[in-house]
Amino acid sequence: MQKKIIRFGVIGCGLMGKEFASSAARWCHLTHIDSEPRIVAVCDANPAATGWFQDNLASVEATYTDYKEMLANPTIDAIYCAVPHNLHAEIYIDIIESGKHLLGEKPFGIDQAANKLIMEAIDRNPHVIVRCSSEFPFFPGVQQIVGWVGENKFGKIIEVEAGFWHSSDLDPTKTINWKRRIATNGEYGCMGDLGMHVLHLPMRFGWKPNSVRALLSKIVRERPDGKGEMVPCETWDNAILACEVDTGDQQFPMVLSTKRIAPGHANTWFIRIMGTEFSAEFTTKNPKQVRSLPYKTGGVQSWHITDTPYKSAYETLTGGIFEFGFSDSILQMWAAFCDELTHRSKMAQPFHCATPEEAASSHHIFTAALESNRTGQTISLHWEE
Ligand SMILES: NC(=O)c1ccc[n+]([C@@H]2O[C@H](COP(=O)([O-])OP(=O)(O)OC[C@H]3O[C@@H](n4cnc5c(N)ncnc54)[C@H](O)[C@@H]3O)[C@@H](O)[C@H]2O)c1
Repeated sequence: MQKKIIRFGVIGCGLMGKEFASSAARWCHLTHIDSEPRIVAVCDANPAATGWFQDNLASVEATYTDYKEMLANPTIDAIYCAVPHNLHAEIYIDIIESGKHLLGEKPFGIDQAANKLIMEAIDRNPHVIVRCSSEFPFFPGVQQIVGWVGENKFGKIIEVEAGFWHSSDLDPTKTINWKRRIATNGEYGCMGDLGMHVLHLPMRFGWKPNSVRALLSKIVRERPDGKGEMVPCETWDNAILACEVDTGDQQFPMVLSTKRIAPGHANTWFIRIMGTEFSAEFTTKNPKQVRSLPYKTGGVQSWHITDTPYKSAYETLTGGIFEFGFSDSILQMWAAFCDELTHRSKMAQPFHCATPEEAASSHHIFTAALESNRTGQTISLHWEE
């Protein structure tokens, strides 16, 4: 199949920059896609960070330490940007103004003011496609639930719970990094770090809360700085947001949680939707399984646990009996982005990557959550249509 080659530059060659490179390197795993990312340039402020890309990707033609020089390269079509949150506004705006398409990492700005500046740049450049990285909805089990929501299968929604939990900060001897500092991660703390993953589907489903009551906690208050001293650990470790949703025809509570300290959890992303006619649940703890409970008046209430086959949004070599995992979800997200760059609204399947508007909605909720935690009050949220 003739494929449209999309020439990518990567800004930020850390953890996530490498994940994209790994997906691009196994693009042959996708069997029916007519576009392909080619990483031709990489940029990191730390020159040592680009070494891995040069060693492993034959496609890299140029390396940079100054992202502005990379943006001046006219042969680059699109950018993946994965840098600390304090740099999102400046770098994303420059990318968008350069006319290159952008898949940017969440949370799309360190705070709501930064996010607003990014949104204004997007408004000024409507021809540029901008999407926000968020991969978990591409698990086949989650796609199954997205389908059920689209079919209105749930009856009256009783409640929704969604969360992203891990325990990587339970160890108090773990050295501090930029994600534990307000200057680089932002005042949102764990919400800015993990929250877009949790809000992606609720925002896609139109479940924007009318109000939020937040409980934010700091559990480990200082950490080693790696140089023999202890330094303050400034950001929120865990957040529980109790929201009220009213969509006009549905009113229900929605509990969202992001936890960096959840003992026993490695990278647990989950969503649970309870309804009067149907309930469903998916968690990455059991990534093959979807639980569902159909209910008819007076009938039996029993959970059905189904192994979902490897039936991804974009077809792959992997047979249906096998398991789907984290790196598969990243590959699928990238397939959706490249498909959208190539075909715009005529994508091969309908589930597109998270939009800037969905990311902006997450900022609206996190900002209200900070106020709620500060005042101890429930904060009303108003949404512009
Ligand atoms: N989608 C996901 O599952 C996921 C997972 C982890 C992190 N993230 C997001 O990815 C982004 C980066 O996180 P990470 O974990 O990859 O961080 P990281 O610290 O591993 O990598 C960030 C890189 O950015 C580089 N950098 C810093 N300033 C720069 C500049 N001015 N120009 C170019 N490069 C610069 C750093 O040197 C570093 O190599 C964040 O927005 C984070 O929230 C997303």
